[in-house]
Amino acid sequence: MSSLIDSFHTPPGSPVDWDALRRYATEVMERAYAPYSHYKVGVAGLVDDGRVVLGCNVENAAYGVALCAECGMVSALHSTGGGRLVAVACVDQAGKPLMPCGRCRQLLWENGGPTMQLMTASGVKTMDEVLPDAFGVEDLNKK
Ligand code: THU
Repeated sequence: MSSLIDSFHTPPGSPVDWDALRRYATEVMERAYAPYSHYKVGVAGLVDDGRVVLGCNVENAAYGVALCAECGMVSALHSTGGGRLVAVACVDQAGKPLMPCGRCRQLLWENGGPTMQLMTASGVKTMDEVLPDAFGVEDLNKK
């Protein structure tokens, strides 16, 4: 199985190519391991250095320990050099925008912050819009 990731890189600071991000997300969605829910998810994230990181959901016979696609993408973000997520596209098995679950919005918040852009069925939104009043690292420093 070839690595999808090597070919995915855009110059840092370029406008977000949402069609490309969605295509990458759809491509990696095909690699999801979802034999229990039969609900495949793929996600592609543009990093501030121009890398694109990918993830797909990975389920388990112990249903509750399933890994969402976003978990895999965040792991790929760190394992390939870190950085900040600037734009994310998450899709279902039809390639349609999928709204990340609550836990995954928190993961995206940690790694992209309030200005990270997210493709949704109703247009591109910021993390601040989809996770208002979020808990974050600043809260840890409040006494
Ligand atoms: N899933 C994701 O991968 N990301 C989400 O944001 C929502 C749900 C996965 C988990 C599970 O494998 C399947 O979708 C059905 O819930």
